[in-house]
Amino acid sequence: MKTINIALIPGDGIGSEVVAEGVKVLQAIEAMDDSLSFSFTEFPWGCEYYLEHGKMMADDGIEKLKSFDAIYLGAVGYPGVPDHISLWDLLLRIRKEFDQYVNLRPVKLLNQSLTPLKSKTEEDIDFLVIRENSEGEYAGAGDWLFKGKPEEVVLQTGVFSRKGTERIIRYAYEEARRSKRTLTSISKGNALNYSMVFWDEVFEEVGKEYPDVETYSYLVDAASLYMVSDPGRFEVVVTSNLFGDIITDLGAGITGGLGLATGANVNPEKEFPSMFEPVHGSAPDIAGKGVANPLAAIWSVSQLLDFFGEEKWGAVVLETIKSIIGDTERLTPDLKGKASTAEVGDWFVELLKKK
Ligand code: NAI
Ligand code: MG
Repeated sequence: MKTINIALIPGDGIGSEVVAEGVKVLQAIEAMDDSLSFSFTEFPWGCEYYLEHGKMMADDGIEKLKSFDAIYLGAVGYPGVPDHISLWDLLLRIRKEFDQYVNLRPVKLLNQSLTPLKSKTEEDIDFLVIRENSEGEYAGAGDWLFKGKPEEVVLQTGVFSRKGTERIIRYAYEEARRSKRTLTSISKGNALNYSMVFWDEVFEEVGKEYPDVETYSYLVDAASLYMVSDPGRFEVVVTSNLFGDIITDLGAGITGGLGLATGANVNPEKEFPSMFEPVHGSAPDIAGKGVANPLAAIWSVSQLLDFFGEEKWGAVVLETIKSIIGDTERLTPDLKGKASTAEVGDWFVELLKKK
């Protein structure tokens, strides 16, 4: 019997609403598969915890999480707690401490009706963005000088180490080779004359070890245009932390919105737990109303299953998302349905049992 130990951090707002549905799905799989089980331990961390305790997680939080195989997170963020605190003290802290240097974000259209791009189909929009997740523009390096004075200066430094750049690019080549797809690097070497020239060099250097992988290299501005005008040219994409953040929101925009976008924060060596989460935030505007779309969080479950070698189940979960999308009755209002979060989860489990 294989047991996957999962730490649950539902977080704030709709985070707990959608994580509950993801857990339902995992429990249904456990009931159907005699050789697989999941254990769940919930942690109450997030902004409400912050308002009570003055910190986003317990002092020994990282120590506590270390022993788990995976972290399943909803979302953090709450009016009254500055976003840079909730982001840096919980999410980014976990990503950094556990060296989750790979962010895997599928941009995959599951139903033609979901894309605002005229005449684009499921075949045209199907790629994987591999985003650098540990340094780059989000390294937190910089300075704030002469604060509030007329000569005020701020510096936000991009940090691109050889180790960090090489390992993400190598990961992407491996993925392209494994899945027999092309690899596209997205950078900006014309304007960012240190960091991105370096990035492009490393991309070429590492590529020499992968002569079987067909590669492309685009500037981020051109790539944004192509994602809209000709998304079919992308298969596996590797890019920096900031560019990856932005283009995957664009990716969400062409595949059905935030209610469907997911991302895995992965430590490929499994030295530390990896973290699975929907891309969306805590959505204070709809929190507590029971209308949040749980499908992004359920897609995270599919990524989790893939990561632990349960690709068969991962594919079944994705297939089930696909079938439920075909039925507007069974969707939440963001996808033009009338169902509640929990109803979608219940229907999902019914459908899953028939797969
Ligand atoms: P958001 O993703 O929470 O919401 C943006 C819009 O999309 C809202 O109109 C919301 O109702 C809608 N939406 C998002 N997820 C949805 C879902 N599952 N179903 C239906 N509609 C959905 O982003 P926003 O409003 O910029 O940020 C709100 C808070 O969340 C902030 O405090 C922010 O810092 C935090 N945040 C946290 C993230 C995380 O925990 N990974 C990521 C992004 C934002
Ligand atoms: Mg983002």
